[in-house]
Amino acid sequence: MDIEKTYRIGDAEYPVLKGINLNIEQGEFIALMGPSGSGKSTLMNIVGCLDRASRGKFLLLDKDVSEASDDELAQIRREELGFIFQTFNLIGRISVLKNVEMPMVLSEIPRDRRKARALELLRSVGLEHRVDFSPQNISGGERQRVAIARALANDPKIIIADEPTGNLDLKSSDEVMNIMKKLHDEGRTIIMVTHNPEITENCDRVIRLRDGRILGEAS
Ligand SMILES: Nc1ncnc2c1ncn2[C@@H]1O[C@H](COP(=O)(O)OP(=O)(O)OP(=O)(O)O)[C@@H](O)[C@H]1O
Ligand SMILES: [Mg+2]
Repeated sequence: MDIEKTYRIGDAEYPVLKGINLNIEQGEFIALMGPSGSGKSTLMNIVGCLDRASRGKFLLLDKDVSEASDDELAQIRREELGFIFQTFNLIGRISVLKNVEMPMVLSEIPRDRRKARALELLRSVGLEHRVDFSPQNISGGERQRVAIARALANDPKIIIADEPTGNLDLKSSDEVMNIMKKLHDEGRTIIMVTHNPEITENCDRVIRLRDGRILGEAS
């Protein structure tokens, strides 16, 4: 059955996703586009196991997660998924390095290995000179690269990116997209929301959402 999502506020029901039938293959780089309010983030949150569909069945990595418990969903998020958001969502009170270590703290990786991996990831996004900075004292483009390093901490198979370049200038946006392309080349599945048609050129498929339904697709 197709995916539906309805928000309930008081007695009123607001259907947001009205029947989504979507199959994403492992290793695909998908762009999700559509007007503001069309349900892109709502769909991404379901795909990322941050939220549940109201109706319909959702399989992730061949596993039916529609009926999974909250704990199971949290484990899937930790082990299989990496998240990148438009607003970076870094923790301002701790260093860049500690931010990247955080998901590994949650998955109980020993301290030494945690730190070594965080350093390696920050190096891979060109930020070895920013490890001790607070996220408050680096640029937007640098923040997003920290967020990408953090998303990769547990070596996820799937990257969920909701407007990753939405707050970035052209140069930072290019840097972020080059990294995304590299992650795709490494074999990761990437699902990315964007309003910018120019950055979809490296994507395998562009899916268009309108008013809670899939409008059409371009390759
Ligand atoms: N928690 C919520 N409760 C009620 N309605 C919600 C909730 N979250 C989202 N909505 C509604 O669902 C619709 C789709 O929202 P969504 O955030 O998925 O849009 P979007 O396509 O990501 O838009 P944008 O491009 O602006 O980010 C909107 O009309 C929004 O008001
Ligand atoms: Mg959105």
